[in-house]
Amino acid sequence: MVAEWQVLGRRHGESSARQGAVEQRSDVPLVAVRGLAHHFDVSAALLDRVLGRAIGRRGRRWLKAVDGIDFEIARGETFALVGESGCGKSTVARCVVGLHTPSAGTVAFDGADISRLEGAEGRARFRRRIQMIFQDPYASLNPRWRVRTIVAEPIRAHGLARERDEITDQVGSLLVKVGLDARDAVKFPHQFSGGQRQRISIARALAAAPEFLVCDEPTSALDVSVQAQILNLMKDLQQTLGLTYLFISHDLAVVFHIADRVGVMYLGRLCEVAETETLFARPRHPYTRLLLAAVPDLANVGAEAGAERAPGLGEVANPIDPPGGCGFHPRCPFADDRCLNERPEPIAVDGGFVACHAHDEGRLPRTPPSAATHWEDPS
Ligand SMILES: Nc1ncnc2c1ncn2[C@@H]1O[C@H](COP(=O)(O)OP(=O)(O)OP(=O)(O)O)[C@@H](O)[C@H]1O
Ligand code: SF4
Ligand SMILES: [Mg+2]
Repeated sequence: MVAEWQVLGRRHGESSARQGAVEQRSDVPLVAVRGLAHHFDVSAALLDRVLGRAIGRRGRRWLKAVDGIDFEIARGETFALVGESGCGKSTVARCVVGLHTPSAGTVAFDGADISRLEGAEGRARFRRRIQMIFQDPYASLNPRWRVRTIVAEPIRAHGLARERDEITDQVGSLLVKVGLDARDAVKFPHQFSGGQRQRISIARALAAAPEFLVCDEPTSALDVSVQAQILNLMKDLQQTLGLTYLFISHDLAVVFHIADRVGVMYLGRLCEVAETETLFARPRHPYTRLLLAAVPDLANVGAEAGAERAPGLGEVANPIDPPGGCGFHPRCPFADDRCLNERPEPIAVDGGFVACHAHDEGRLPRTPPSAATHWEDPS
Protein backbone atom coordinates (compact mmCIF):
# COMPACT_ATOMS: atom_id res chain seq x y z
CA MET A 1 0.00 0.00 0.00
CA VAL A 2 2.90 2.31 0.65
CA ALA A 3 3.71 2.00 -3.04
CA GLU A 4 0.28 3.36 -3.90
CA TRP A 5 0.83 6.37 -1.69
CA GLN A 6 4.27 6.85 -3.23
CA VAL A 7 2.56 7.17 -6.60
CA LEU A 8 1.13 10.39 -5.29
CA GLY A 9 4.68 11.75 -5.25
CA ARG A 10 4.15 14.81 -3.08
CA ARG A 11 7.02 17.12 -3.87
CA HIS A 12 7.79 18.44 -0.44
CA GLY A 13 8.81 22.06 -0.15
CA GLU A 14 7.07 22.81 -3.42
CA SER A 15 3.44 23.76 -3.08
CA SER A 16 1.07 22.92 -5.90
CA ALA A 17 0.62 26.66 -6.29
CA ARG A 18 4.20 26.79 -7.43
CA GLN A 19 4.06 23.70 -9.61
CA GLY A 20 2.72 23.78 -13.13
CA ALA A 21 0.31 26.19 -14.59
CA VAL A 22 -0.75 28.30 -11.63
CA GLU A 23 1.24 31.46 -12.09
CA GLN A 24 -1.39 34.18 -11.80
CA ARG A 25 -1.03 34.86 -8.07
CA SER A 26 -2.62 37.94 -6.72
CA ASP A 27 -2.24 39.68 -3.38
CA VAL A 28 -5.92 39.07 -2.70
CA PRO A 29 -6.45 35.52 -1.46
CA LEU A 30 -9.04 33.67 -3.51
CA VAL A 31 -10.90 32.81 -0.30
CA ALA A 32 -10.81 34.76 2.97
CA VAL A 33 -12.80 33.51 5.94
CA ARG A 34 -13.05 35.93 8.87
CA GLY A 35 -14.59 35.21 12.26
CA LEU A 36 -16.86 32.58 10.71
CA ALA A 37 -19.46 31.06 13.04
CA HIS A 38 -22.42 28.83 12.36
CA HIS A 39 -24.78 27.89 15.17
CA PHE A 40 -27.61 25.38 14.74
CA ASP A 41 -30.83 25.90 16.63
CA VAL A 42 -31.34 22.59 18.46
CA SER A 43 -34.03 23.75 20.87
CA ALA A 44 -37.41 22.09 21.21
CA ALA A 45 -39.69 22.22 18.20
CA LEU A 46 -40.90 25.65 17.18
CA LEU A 47 -44.52 24.73 17.98
CA ASP A 48 -43.52 23.82 21.52
CA ARG A 49 -41.83 27.17 21.88
CA VAL A 50 -44.77 29.11 20.46
CA LEU A 51 -47.24 27.29 22.71
CA GLY A 52 -44.92 27.73 25.67
CA ARG A 53 -45.00 24.04 26.48
CA ALA A 54 -42.78 22.86 29.27
CA ILE A 55 -39.94 21.83 27.05
CA GLY A 56 -40.16 25.11 25.11
CA ARG A 57 -39.85 27.25 28.20
CA ARG A 58 -36.29 26.16 28.60
CA GLY A 59 -35.56 28.58 25.78
CA ARG A 60 -33.44 28.10 22.74
CA ARG A 61 -30.40 25.90 22.63
CA TRP A 62 -27.62 26.37 20.16
CA LEU A 63 -25.07 23.96 18.84
CA LYS A 64 -21.97 25.95 17.94
CA ALA A 65 -20.84 23.82 14.98
CA VAL A 66 -18.39 26.53 13.90
CA ASP A 67 -17.41 29.06 16.51
CA GLY A 68 -15.26 31.83 15.08
CA ILE A 69 -12.58 30.72 12.66
CA ASP A 70 -10.25 32.54 10.28
CA PHE A 71 -8.30 31.27 7.30
CA GLU A 72 -7.30 32.26 3.80
CA ILE A 73 -6.69 30.20 0.68
CA ALA A 74 -4.33 31.51 -1.99
CA ARG A 75 -4.96 30.93 -5.67
CA GLY A 76 -3.75 27.51 -6.74
CA GLU A 77 -3.35 26.33 -3.16
CA THR A 78 -4.82 23.28 -1.44
CA PHE A 79 -5.92 24.11 2.09
CA ALA A 80 -7.09 21.12 4.12
CA LEU A 81 -9.33 21.02 7.14
CA VAL A 82 -8.80 18.01 9.38
CA GLY A 83 -10.35 16.90 12.64
CA GLU A 84 -12.50 14.23 14.23
CA SER A 85 -16.12 13.64 13.28
CA GLY A 86 -18.44 16.46 14.34
CA CYS A 87 -15.75 19.15 14.70
CA GLY A 88 -17.47 21.32 12.08
CA LYS A 89 -15.57 20.65 8.83
CA SER A 90 -18.63 20.16 6.61
CA THR A 91 -20.39 23.13 8.18
CA VAL A 92 -17.42 25.32 7.22
CA ALA A 93 -17.57 23.89 3.68
CA ARG A 94 -21.28 24.64 3.39
CA CYS A 95 -20.78 28.21 4.64
CA VAL A 96 -17.96 28.74 2.14
CA VAL A 97 -20.10 27.68 -0.84
CA GLY A 98 -23.08 29.68 0.43
CA LEU A 99 -25.31 26.71 1.42
CA HIS A 100 -25.38 27.91 5.05
CA THR A 101 -25.69 31.54 6.07
CA PRO A 102 -23.08 32.26 8.75
CA SER A 103 -24.32 33.22 12.22
CA ALA A 104 -21.36 35.60 12.34
CA GLY A 105 -18.32 36.51 10.29
CA THR A 106 -17.76 36.68 6.56
CA VAL A 107 -16.63 34.59 3.62
CA ALA A 108 -15.01 36.56 0.82
CA PHE A 109 -14.38 35.06 -2.60
CA ASP A 110 -11.96 36.91 -4.84
CA GLY A 111 -12.29 39.94 -2.58
CA ALA A 112 -16.13 40.04 -2.53
CA ASP A 113 -18.25 39.16 0.51
CA ILE A 114 -20.44 36.29 -0.75
CA SER A 115 -23.42 37.46 1.34
CA ARG A 116 -23.43 40.77 -0.53
CA LEU A 117 -23.14 39.65 -4.14
CA GLU A 118 -25.06 42.00 -6.35
CA GLY A 119 -27.86 40.91 -8.63
CA ALA A 120 -28.85 37.52 -10.00
CA GLU A 121 -25.97 37.67 -12.47
CA GLY A 122 -23.36 38.23 -9.75
CA ARG A 123 -24.75 35.32 -7.72
CA ALA A 124 -24.88 33.03 -10.77
CA ARG A 125 -21.26 33.88 -11.59
CA PHE A 126 -20.24 33.04 -8.02
CA ARG A 127 -22.12 29.71 -8.19
CA ARG A 128 -20.27 28.82 -11.38
CA ARG A 129 -16.82 29.70 -10.03
CA ILE A 130 -17.24 27.53 -6.91
CA GLN A 131 -18.16 23.86 -7.14
CA MET A 132 -18.41 21.15 -4.52
CA ILE A 133 -17.47 17.46 -4.54
CA PHE A 134 -19.02 15.19 -1.91
CA GLN A 135 -18.04 11.98 -0.18
CA ASP A 136 -20.71 9.77 -1.70
CA PRO A 137 -20.70 10.15 -5.48
CA TYR A 138 -23.69 7.84 -5.86
CA ALA A 139 -25.90 10.04 -3.70
CA SER A 140 -24.86 13.17 -5.59
CA LEU A 141 -25.51 11.70 -9.08
CA ASN A 142 -29.08 11.35 -10.28
CA PRO A 143 -29.44 7.56 -10.82
CA ARG A 144 -32.08 8.05 -13.54
CA TRP A 145 -29.92 10.30 -15.68
CA ARG A 146 -27.32 9.18 -18.19
CA VAL A 147 -23.82 10.49 -17.59
CA ARG A 148 -24.16 12.88 -20.55
CA THR A 149 -27.14 14.57 -18.90
CA ILE A 150 -25.42 14.71 -15.51
CA VAL A 151 -22.25 16.29 -16.88
CA ALA A 152 -24.07 18.56 -19.35
CA GLU A 153 -26.38 20.08 -16.74
CA PRO A 154 -23.92 22.73 -15.43
CA ILE A 155 -22.91 23.56 -19.01
CA ARG A 156 -26.53 24.27 -19.88
CA ALA A 157 -27.37 25.94 -16.56
CA HIS A 158 -24.52 28.43 -16.89
CA GLY A 159 -24.99 28.93 -20.63
CA LEU A 160 -21.44 27.77 -21.39
CA ALA A 161 -22.58 26.10 -24.63
CA ARG A 162 -25.92 25.98 -26.40
CA GLU A 163 -25.62 23.80 -29.48
CA ARG A 164 -26.21 20.08 -28.94
CA ASP A 165 -23.00 19.04 -30.75
CA GLU A 166 -20.92 21.53 -28.80
CA ILE A 167 -22.31 20.24 -25.50
CA THR A 168 -21.68 16.62 -26.55
CA ASP A 169 -18.07 17.50 -27.42
CA GLN A 170 -17.56 19.25 -24.09
CA VAL A 171 -19.01 16.33 -22.13
CA GLY A 172 -16.76 13.90 -24.04
CA SER A 173 -13.63 15.90 -23.39
CA LEU A 174 -14.51 16.31 -19.70
CA LEU A 175 -14.93 12.55 -19.36
CA VAL A 176 -11.54 11.98 -21.00
CA LYS A 177 -9.99 14.63 -18.71
CA VAL A 178 -11.07 12.65 -15.64
CA GLY A 179 -9.81 9.34 -17.04
CA LEU A 180 -13.07 7.96 -18.44
CA ASP A 181 -14.09 7.30 -22.03
CA ALA A 182 -16.23 9.68 -24.07
CA ARG A 183 -18.45 6.67 -24.85
CA ASP A 184 -19.29 6.39 -21.13
CA ALA A 185 -21.64 9.34 -21.67
CA VAL A 186 -24.51 7.00 -22.61
CA LYS A 187 -24.28 4.92 -19.40
CA PHE A 188 -26.05 5.33 -16.07
CA PRO A 189 -24.24 5.88 -12.71
CA HIS A 190 -24.95 2.34 -11.47
CA GLN A 191 -22.87 0.94 -14.32
CA PHE A 192 -19.68 2.37 -12.79
CA SER A 193 -17.47 1.50 -9.82
CA GLY A 194 -17.20 3.86 -6.82
CA GLY A 195 -13.96 5.41 -8.12
CA GLN A 196 -15.43 5.90 -11.59
CA ARG A 197 -18.53 7.52 -10.09
CA GLN A 198 -16.29 9.96 -8.22
CA ARG A 199 -14.62 10.73 -11.56
CA ILE A 200 -18.08 11.53 -12.99
CA SER A 201 -18.71 13.87 -10.02
CA ILE A 202 -15.41 15.61 -10.74
CA ALA A 203 -16.27 15.91 -14.45
CA ARG A 204 -19.63 17.41 -13.51
CA ALA A 205 -17.95 19.89 -11.15
CA LEU A 206 -15.42 20.84 -13.84
CA ALA A 207 -18.19 21.30 -16.42
CA ALA A 208 -18.95 24.69 -14.86
CA ALA A 209 -15.32 25.77 -15.49
CA PRO A 210 -14.80 26.62 -11.80
CA GLU A 211 -11.75 28.12 -10.13
CA PHE A 212 -12.38 26.76 -6.65
CA LEU A 213 -13.42 23.25 -5.61
CA VAL A 214 -14.67 22.48 -2.12
CA CYS A 215 -14.05 18.76 -1.64
CA ASP A 216 -15.78 17.24 1.39
CA GLU A 217 -14.19 13.84 2.11
CA PRO A 218 -14.06 13.06 -1.64
CA THR A 219 -12.10 9.83 -1.20
CA SER A 220 -13.36 8.56 2.16
CA ALA A 221 -15.80 6.07 0.65
CA LEU A 222 -13.20 4.56 -1.70
CA ASP A 223 -10.70 1.70 -1.40
CA VAL A 224 -7.17 2.82 -0.64
CA SER A 225 -5.79 2.09 -4.13
CA VAL A 226 -8.70 3.98 -5.72
CA GLN A 227 -8.20 6.85 -3.25
CA ALA A 228 -4.65 7.28 -4.54
CA GLN A 229 -5.85 7.37 -8.16
CA ILE A 230 -8.48 10.01 -7.41
CA LEU A 231 -6.01 12.13 -5.41
CA ASN A 232 -3.50 11.90 -8.26
CA LEU A 233 -6.21 12.96 -10.69
CA MET A 234 -7.13 15.92 -8.49
CA LYS A 235 -3.49 17.01 -8.28
CA ASP A 236 -3.08 16.76 -12.05
CA LEU A 237 -6.27 18.73 -12.66
CA GLN A 238 -5.14 21.36 -10.20
CA GLN A 239 -1.93 21.89 -12.11
CA THR A 240 -3.40 21.88 -15.60
CA LEU A 241 -6.50 23.95 -14.79
CA GLY A 242 -5.06 26.18 -12.06
CA LEU A 243 -7.65 25.10 -9.50
CA THR A 244 -7.78 26.03 -5.83
CA TYR A 245 -9.02 23.45 -3.31
CA LEU A 246 -10.57 23.45 0.12
CA PHE A 247 -10.04 19.80 0.97
CA ILE A 248 -11.83 18.25 3.93
CA SER A 249 -10.77 14.95 5.41
CA HIS A 250 -10.41 13.11 8.68
CA ASP A 251 -7.64 10.99 7.12
CA LEU A 252 -4.22 12.43 7.91
CA ALA A 253 -2.48 10.39 5.19
CA VAL A 254 -4.73 11.89 2.53
CA VAL A 255 -4.18 15.38 3.90
CA PHE A 256 -0.41 14.84 4.06
CA HIS A 257 -0.29 13.92 0.40
CA ILE A 258 -2.57 16.54 -1.08
CA ALA A 259 -2.47 19.69 1.06
CA ASP A 260 -0.14 22.68 0.97
CA ARG A 261 -1.44 23.95 4.31
CA VAL A 262 -3.58 22.34 6.97
CA GLY A 263 -6.03 23.67 9.54
CA VAL A 264 -6.76 21.41 12.51
CA MET A 265 -10.30 21.81 13.87
CA TYR A 266 -11.64 20.92 17.28
CA LEU A 267 -15.18 21.65 18.50
CA GLY A 268 -15.82 24.31 15.90
CA ARG A 269 -12.50 26.13 16.37
CA LEU A 270 -9.20 26.06 14.53
CA CYS A 271 -6.50 25.09 17.03
CA GLU A 272 -3.54 25.10 14.64
CA VAL A 273 -2.83 26.14 11.06
CA ALA A 274 0.52 25.36 9.44
CA GLU A 275 2.26 24.40 6.21
CA THR A 276 1.74 20.67 5.72
CA GLU A 277 5.37 19.69 6.25
CA THR A 278 5.70 21.84 9.35
CA LEU A 279 2.51 20.46 10.84
CA PHE A 280 3.49 16.84 10.32
CA ALA A 281 7.15 17.25 11.31
CA ARG A 282 6.68 19.65 14.22
CA PRO A 283 3.08 19.57 15.44
CA ARG A 284 2.64 22.25 18.10
CA HIS A 285 -0.89 22.04 19.46
CA PRO A 286 -1.52 19.16 21.90
CA TYR A 287 -4.54 18.08 19.83
CA THR A 288 -2.50 17.97 16.61
CA ARG A 289 0.07 15.87 18.44
CA LEU A 290 -2.64 13.55 19.69
CA LEU A 291 -4.06 13.08 16.19
CA LEU A 292 -0.63 12.34 14.75
CA ALA A 293 0.29 10.00 17.59
CA ALA A 294 -2.87 8.04 16.83
CA VAL A 295 -1.53 7.16 13.39
CA PRO A 296 1.67 5.16 13.87
CA ASP A 297 3.14 5.40 10.38
CA LEU A 298 2.39 5.91 6.73
CA ALA A 299 2.16 2.20 6.07
CA ASN A 300 -0.88 1.99 8.31
CA VAL A 301 -2.75 5.17 7.65
CA GLY A 302 -5.44 5.22 5.04
CA ALA A 303 -5.97 1.46 5.30
CA GLU A 304 -8.71 1.89 7.83
CA ALA A 305 -9.08 5.51 8.65
CA GLY A 306 -9.61 6.10 12.32
CA ALA A 307 -8.75 2.51 13.23
CA GLU A 308 -5.27 3.29 14.56
CA ARG A 309 -6.29 5.07 17.71
CA ALA A 310 -3.65 5.51 20.35
CA PRO A 311 -4.67 4.48 23.86
CA GLY A 312 -6.25 7.35 25.75
CA LEU A 313 -7.41 9.30 22.73
CA GLY A 314 -10.65 9.97 24.58
CA GLU A 315 -13.94 11.32 23.35
CA VAL A 316 -14.90 14.66 21.83
CA ALA A 317 -17.06 16.72 24.21
CA ASN A 318 -20.74 17.31 23.52
CA PRO A 319 -20.86 20.39 21.24
CA ILE A 320 -24.24 21.44 22.72
CA ASP A 321 -22.61 21.78 26.11
CA PRO A 322 -18.92 22.30 25.41
CA PRO A 323 -16.34 22.69 28.18
CA GLY A 324 -15.45 26.24 29.24
CA GLY A 325 -12.05 27.76 28.59
CA CYS A 326 -10.15 25.67 26.07
CA GLY A 327 -12.58 23.15 24.58
CA PHE A 328 -9.82 20.55 24.49
CA HIS A 329 -8.99 20.75 28.20
CA PRO A 330 -10.79 17.54 29.32
CA ARG A 331 -8.49 15.54 27.00
CA CYS A 332 -5.33 17.59 27.33
CA PRO A 333 -2.40 16.38 29.45
CA PHE A 334 -1.13 19.98 29.73
CA ALA A 335 -4.34 21.62 30.95
CA ASP A 336 -4.08 23.92 33.98
CA ASP A 337 -6.41 26.39 35.70
CA ARG A 338 -6.00 28.99 32.98
CA CYS A 339 -7.05 26.41 30.36
CA LEU A 340 -10.23 25.66 32.32
CA ASN A 341 -11.26 29.31 32.41
CA GLU A 342 -9.80 31.21 29.47
CA ARG A 343 -10.28 30.36 25.82
CA PRO A 344 -6.94 30.47 23.98
CA GLU A 345 -6.83 32.80 21.00
CA PRO A 346 -4.75 32.07 17.90
CA ILE A 347 -1.16 33.36 18.08
CA ALA A 348 0.88 33.65 14.87
CA VAL A 349 3.84 31.31 14.48
CA ASP A 350 5.92 30.87 11.34
CA GLY A 351 3.38 30.90 8.51
CA GLY A 352 0.43 29.80 10.62
CA PHE A 353 -0.95 29.97 14.14
CA VAL A 354 -1.51 27.99 17.31
CA ALA A 355 -4.25 28.55 19.90
CA CYS A 356 -2.88 27.08 23.13
CA HIS A 357 -1.91 28.63 26.48
CA ALA A 358 0.78 26.04 27.15
CA HIS A 359 2.37 26.78 23.80
CA ASP A 360 2.38 30.53 24.53
CA GLU A 361 3.82 29.92 27.99
CA GLY A 362 6.54 27.66 26.56
CA ARG A 363 5.56 24.75 28.77
CA LEU A 364 4.92 22.18 26.05
CA PRO A 365 7.61 19.54 25.61
CA ARG A 366 9.49 19.59 22.32
CA THR A 367 7.89 17.54 19.58
CA PRO A 368 9.06 13.95 19.96
CA PRO A 369 11.61 13.31 17.16
CA SER A 370 9.58 10.29 16.09
CA ALA A 371 6.75 12.55 15.02
CA ALA A 372 8.87 13.96 12.23
CA THR A 373 10.20 10.65 10.99
CA HIS A 374 6.76 9.08 10.81
CA TRP A 375 5.72 11.60 8.21
CA GLU A 376 8.73 11.78 5.97
CA ASP A 377 7.94 11.24 2.33
CA PRO A 378 8.69 7.61 1.52
CA SER A 379 9.47 8.41 -2.12
N1 LIG B 1 -28.49 20.58 10.37
C1 LIG B 1 -27.96 20.41 11.57
N2 LIG B 1 -28.70 20.63 12.68
C2 LIG B 1 -28.17 20.49 13.92
N3 LIG B 1 -26.87 20.14 14.15
C3 LIG B 1 -26.10 19.90 13.07
C4 LIG B 1 -26.59 20.03 11.72
N4 LIG B 1 -25.58 19.73 10.87
C5 LIG B 1 -24.51 19.44 11.64
N5 LIG B 1 -24.81 19.54 12.94
C6 LIG B 1 -23.90 19.33 14.06
O1 LIG B 1 -22.85 20.26 13.92
C7 LIG B 1 -21.63 19.67 14.34
C8 LIG B 1 -20.64 19.77 13.19
O2 LIG B 1 -21.13 18.95 12.15
P1 LIG B 1 -20.30 18.77 10.80
O3 LIG B 1 -21.12 17.90 9.91
O4 LIG B 1 -19.90 20.10 10.29
O5 LIG B 1 -18.99 18.00 11.31
P2 LIG B 1 -17.87 17.26 10.48
O6 LIG B 1 -16.56 17.69 11.04
O7 LIG B 1 -18.08 17.48 9.02
O8 LIG B 1 -18.12 15.74 10.86
P3 LIG B 1 -17.88 14.42 9.96
O9 LIG B 1 -16.38 14.19 9.95
O10 LIG B 1 -18.61 13.36 10.71
O11 LIG B 1 -18.44 14.67 8.59
C9 LIG B 1 -21.96 18.25 14.76
O12 LIG B 1 -22.11 18.22 16.16
C10 LIG B 1 -23.26 17.96 14.05
O13 LIG B 1 -24.03 17.03 14.78
S1 SF4 C 1 -4.93 25.69 26.02
FE1 SF4 C 1 -4.51 24.31 27.71
S2 SF4 C 1 -6.06 22.67 27.54
FE2 SF4 C 1 -6.02 23.78 25.59
S3 SF4 C 1 -4.62 22.61 24.33
FE3 SF4 C 1 -3.40 24.22 25.30
S4 SF4 C 1 -2.61 23.30 27.19
FE4 SF4 C 1 -4.24 21.98 26.44
MG1 LIG D 1 -18.48 16.19 7.41
